[in-house]
Amino acid sequence: MSKQTVLALTTMVPEKMDALEAQYDVIRLGKEADPDQTLKSRGKDVQAILSTNKGHVNAKLMDALPNLEIITQCAVGYENIDLEVAKARSIRVTNTPDVLTDDTADTAMTLLLGVARRVAEGDMYVRTGKWLNGPLPLGTSLSDKMVGIVGLGRIGQAIARRCLAFNMTVVYHGPREKTDQPYRYYPDLVTMARDVDFLVLACVGGDATRGMVNRQVLDAMKPSAFLINVARGSVVDEPVLVEKLVNRKIAGAGLDVYANEPHVPEELKALDNVVLLPHIGSATHETRAKMGQLVLDNLEAHFAGKPLLTPVI
Ligand code: 8YV
Repeated sequence: MSKQTVLALTTMVPEKMDALEAQYDVIRLGKEADPDQTLKSRGKDVQAILSTNKGHVNAKLMDALPNLEIITQCAVGYENIDLEVAKARSIRVTNTPDVLTDDTADTAMTLLLGVARRVAEGDMYVRTGKWLNGPLPLGTSLSDKMVGIVGLGRIGQAIARRCLAFNMTVVYHGPREKTDQPYRYYPDLVTMARDVDFLVLACVGGDATRGMVNRQVLDAMKPSAFLINVARGSVVDEPVLVEKLVNRKIAGAGLDVYANEPHVPEELKALDNVVLLPHIGSATHETRAKMGQLVLDNLEAHFAGKPLLTPVI
């Protein structure tokens, strides 16, 4: 039997890409000289897509693939996939939840500590010899502070557990109260933003949260408060955030995601009260291997007619 054809819109760690190419006929669209021509000539062969949260899996692409059966997203977020179009054609969609929860929560804590204790600034202080002229300005304690988590899903809950270990008080905001969680629920984000010392964004991306952290929310934050974003750049009104940081209306920010990745506003790069990471929430050898294996396992299950491991639809 000929191999099923997978259209790869991204790559996985090498060992998982090797396994994919051993089992399937893989079209790496990014390596094609003329991707549009490739889709025209080979689109009818494609039964599966390997995608990530970067790049749109939209109607135009799916229309070019008349025999598409499944989209396997190598990411937990899938706001870049037009689920309505996929549903209308009974195209299955899978993602990679759980395996990246700890690393993403660790990234949030890295940013919390990094910006509160001026880690990036301190590192440069030593490297540039500024320490010779005097001590680094004081940072901010996490202990006894209040952290407000926006989006108490798997990642938000993992962040909450870590914050408790740092003797922080955890509160949260989201579309609904989670009665199985021990933390205070804030139905109103502006009210929570007013009360917290750290506002941590761990919610889903997409239309439901686009621009949710707007000027009103940022205006409500204390001048001593910090914003942490491990969700999506789309959640925050980035120009307003830059304005608040430049004018020191909030104390600082720790960001792993941005409105127009990999492009980051130059104003942010010039600030010493921000820590900027290049969307590395799940970027460890171990986690990316687990994500890749989930993609392979979902593809195998689908083509074997077995239940998918991590279905979205
Ligand atoms: C991706 C992410 O894992 O999983 C997500 O939704 O935002 C990222 O951590 C990474 O971009 C690889 O696709």
